[in-house]
Amino acid sequence: MSVNSSEQTEYESSVNIQSFLMFLVAMTIGLLVAVLLLPAWLPNMAFSLGGDAPKAYWYLSRGTAFVSLSLLWLSMALGISITNKMARLWPGAPAAFAIHEYVSLLGLAFAIFHAVVILGDHYINFTLLQLLIPFSTIDYRPFWVGLGQLGFYTWAIIAITFYIRPIIGQKSWRFLHYGSFGMYLLGIFHGIYSGTDTSQGWAQNYYWYSAGILLFLLMYRILAVVIDKVFPPKKATSAPRPTQG
Ligand code: HEM
Repeated sequence: MSVNSSEQTEYESSVNIQSFLMFLVAMTIGLLVAVLLLPAWLPNMAFSLGGDAPKAYWYLSRGTAFVSLSLLWLSMALGISITNKMARLWPGAPAAFAIHEYVSLLGLAFAIFHAVVILGDHYINFTLLQLLIPFSTIDYRPFWVGLGQLGFYTWAIIAITFYIRPIIGQKSWRFLHYGSFGMYLLGIFHGIYSGTDTSQGWAQNYYWYSAGILLFLLMYRILAVVIDKVFPPKKATSAPRPTQG
């Protein structure tokens, strides 16, 4: 990891892009094959997943939805803790940056799984095109699902910028990185208004507490910046000039 002048942007990407892309491509192809082709090739196997209306895909999508949102949450919490300097206490800024990046990429992989596996659900009945085009799922909450789709694309763009930082420059990287806040909001509103579990007490607690903790970390960061501006830390005074003589 190289260290330059400013906080948060000091650390280089620690996840190899080739292996990550290979992993994503392999996972997506595997999922598409499983969801689209297996029911036609092996109808009995698809039947064993739940008969005429298999629910397994729906459960898998809902489960991975929360894993994905939680990994996004963890990545955001670590990111803010790097900039508000809390990460210096634990686990240390370089470790926090490496985990922040890794967890974000892992969450993106779970988001792909969450979206693709729902293709197997007969009740929601999305087509591949509807999955890819935001706000096109006319039969199932198009606006709220659309927010999730926009969130997903924003996430993918931000993930790519980890790797093209030297090309786009520090300022653009930082500007794009601020998009994470919008992305998190898109994810959370998408989850609340398109999810089946929102009516459950545990899901409501999850949304409130997780968002509340992020808000606290963000407020702490903003306050620290304001306090630094109003009461700038005193510069270390140089040692007194030795008297001659
Ligand atoms: C192409 C992108 C996406 C599509 C097509 C999509 C689709 C859906 C659908 C159809 C549901 C409703 C499932 C149900 O409970 O019946 C849902 C719920 C949910 N999604 Fe997504 N989603 C996408 C991206 C995302 C992303 C990026 C996240 C996380 C940041 C996410 C997190 C959630 C959560 C937490 C729920 C609530 C699950 C529940 O209440 O059981 N989704 N999504």
